[in-house]
Amino acid sequence: MSLEPAFEQWMAALERRHLADLTFPQVSGALRALSSTYVERRGRLAEGAALAGAGKRAAFALFYGPLHYLLVHSIVRALPPAARALPPTLLDLGCGTGASGAAWAAACPQPPAVLGIDRNQWATKEAAETYRAFGVAARTRRDDVEARWPSGALAVLAAFTLNELTDAARERILLRAIERTARPGGPAGRLLVIEPLARFVAPWWGRWQTAVESAGGRADEWRFTVERPAMVAKLDRAAGLDHRELTGRSLWLA
Ligand SMILES: C[S@@+](CC[C@H](N)C(=O)[O-])C[C@H]1O[C@@H](n2cnc3c(N)ncnc32)[C@H](O)[C@@H]1O
Repeated sequence: MSLEPAFEQWMAALERRHLADLTFPQVSGALRALSSTYVERRGRLAEGAALAGAGKRAAFALFYGPLHYLLVHSIVRALPPAARALPPTLLDLGCGTGASGAAWAAACPQPPAVLGIDRNQWATKEAAETYRAFGVAARTRRDDVEARWPSGALAVLAAFTLNELTDAARERILLRAIERTARPGGPAGRLLVIEPLARFVAPWWGRWQTAVESAGGRADEWRFTVERPAMVAKLDRAAGLDHRELTGRSLWLA
C-alpha cells in the first residue's frame, strides 16, 4: 500500500473511532486544554495529565498524532539514507498513539518490527491500531521507558517523549541510548530524538546535542510546509492554532 492511501485510511479510522462518542466542539475544546497543558501547565505532564480524559485523548489522536506522523515522515526523508536502513527492531519510546514510530518504520524500504512502549494503556492500544494501519509488524508494551530494552541492534525513537521525563530519568536514558547506539564494537544501532523547536520545552537539549555530536551524530532544526488533513486543519482553526508549517528539532546518531 502506498503511503498516501494508508495515511488517508488511518485518518478516516481515527475520525470514526474518536468522534463516535464525542462531538467536534467537545474535541476542539479538549484540544485547547491539551495545548495549554503542553505550554502553560507543563509541570503536570509527568503525572500523565496530557492523556487524562476522553476529550484530550481524542484530541491527541486526531490532531497531534497526524501532525507528528507528517513531521517524522518529512524528517526521516531529509536525514541521510542510513535513517531508512534500520536494524530489525525499532523501539518507539513513549509511543503514544504510535504515529511517529509508524512514520519512521513505514518510510523504510524494509520496515523494521516496532516495539512501542508507553506507560499509558490507552496509548498502547491506539499505537497497535496505528502500526497495523501502516502495515508495520509491531508489539506494544505498557511499561516505563526505562524498563528493559530488547537485546541486539535497535533503532531507538524518542519523539516528543523525553520532555515528559524527570531530569534523572532522561539522563539515564541518554547514557543507555548512546551506549546502545555508538559503543565501539557494539551492535549497529540508530537513535532519533525529536522535540519541538520551542526551547522552553526542552531546556536540556544542549546537553543531549553535545553528547550526540561527540558520539558522531548530528543535530538539525526543521521547517516543512505540509498539506494538513482536513480534520487537522479544522481542529487547528477551531482551537485558534496554526500548523500549516510543521517545525521541530532532531538529534540523529548512527
Ligand atoms: C507527547 S506524547 C508523544 C507520543 C509519540 N511519541 C508521538 O510522537 O506522537 C508522550 C508520550 O510519552 C508517554 N510517557 C511519558 N513518560 C513516560 C514514561 N516514563 N514511560 C513511558 N511512557 C511515558 C506518555 O504517556 C505519552 O504517550
